[in-house]
Amino acid sequence: MHPLLAPRMSLVGSSPTAEISNKVRALAAAGHSVINLGEGELDFATPAAVCEAGIAAIRNGETKYTAVAGTRELRAAISRKFATENGLSYGPSEVIAGAGAKQLIFNAFLATLSDGDEVIVPAPYWVSYPDMIRLAGGEPVVVSCPREDGWKLTAQALQNALTERTRWVVLNSPNNPTGAVYSPAEMKALTDVLLPHDTVLILADDIYEHVRYDCDFATPAAVEPQLRPRVLTVNGLSKGYSMTGWRVGYAGGPEWLIDAMQILQSQSTSNPSSISQQAAIAALDGGTSFMTEWMKVLLERRNIVLDSLQGLTCLDADVPEGAFYVFADCSGLIGKYRPDGRMISSDLDFAAYLIEEAHVGVVHGSAFGAPGHIRIAYAIDTETLRTACDRIVEACGKLRDRKVA
Ligand SMILES: Cc1ncc(COP(=O)(O)O)c(C=O)c1O
Repeated sequence: MHPLLAPRMSLVGSSPTAEISNKVRALAAAGHSVINLGEGELDFATPAAVCEAGIAAIRNGETKYTAVAGTRELRAAISRKFATENGLSYGPSEVIAGAGAKQLIFNAFLATLSDGDEVIVPAPYWVSYPDMIRLAGGEPVVVSCPREDGWKLTAQALQNALTERTRWVVLNSPNNPTGAVYSPAEMKALTDVLLPHDTVLILADDIYEHVRYDCDFATPAAVEPQLRPRVLTVNGLSKGYSMTGWRVGYAGGPEWLIDAMQILQSQSTSNPSSISQQAAIAALDGGTSFMTEWMKVLLERRNIVLDSLQGLTCLDADVPEGAFYVFADCSGLIGKYRPDGRMISSDLDFAAYLIEEAHVGVVHGSAFGAPGHIRIAYAIDTETLRTACDRIVEACGKLRDRKVA
């Protein structure tokens, strides 16, 4: 580490998903046809009406600073969204908009964690939680949720992980990277455990709320209204509305916490882009009817990936109920040999092999706290996805039990 860097920089690394994207870009720049199944980003265009609202904002001169937590209109739209879609009543001082859900989660941890405070993070987890927690002085307490449990935290595992130092529990449904979705009953089992622990906060990361296949959605503050004063419900437009680049996320929670997050935001990034805020109002008020078509396309893509895997004995995955990822077990490949004689000794090696041999980028499971797996994001154009899957199958077929002389 460079001597001029602060010690806290030793606590964090750059996002593994960004690293995959860099490798993909480098190969593409060298003239190879590479396909990135590593990125958590839909290829769909942002809905036209939402784009128009952004363009109108520029034309109307809505290009200045706004209130740090977002304009009054945007906060009202966020409150309406929570009320109509989730049955949650958050007033204007209980909601905040930020530059992505990421910023809001970061600020929530920064505002509340002291040295040594514990945050329960069910694994597989979104890559950023542990590093954000460490940066804020906390300690991630990773609780492995096995595939046999549908990759979900059970009441017993949660109970076992709670200590006097627990400050937060992170619940992410639909989940990145597994696509697991907690049913209302499964969520209730967890909120029942949390009810008596009145110094524990709950982070509900609902960013994939709209990306679900025929299953119910459950968010903790709605499932157990008594917990509402301790839940931060985080959501955003990146995934459901294909608006990753617009950078708008939002959260609802107790006023004391929203206030603190707003103070941090006021001293760091200030309001999210005024233009994006106008687009976000159009998105939140415009409904999600376009999602029906999107989900049809995503379902087809999900099946393309699952069908490809079915033909392989060495990669195996359950059917995900939400998000746009397939989380596949690749442990059967560990110990096999590549055509160049090198052994695959980890999920990281396998992901590297897929990039080098098949020119397909995927993310290794270790990045999500689940070694022996890979995450395949099927958020890309359907035909390209088919090609990528064929290439994966072909590359797997080249692996051998013994080193080829
Ligand atoms: C689980 C989860 N939460 C939060 C985010 C952050 O989303 P954004 O900052 O784009 O709103 C992501 C993005 O990949 C995610 O996968």
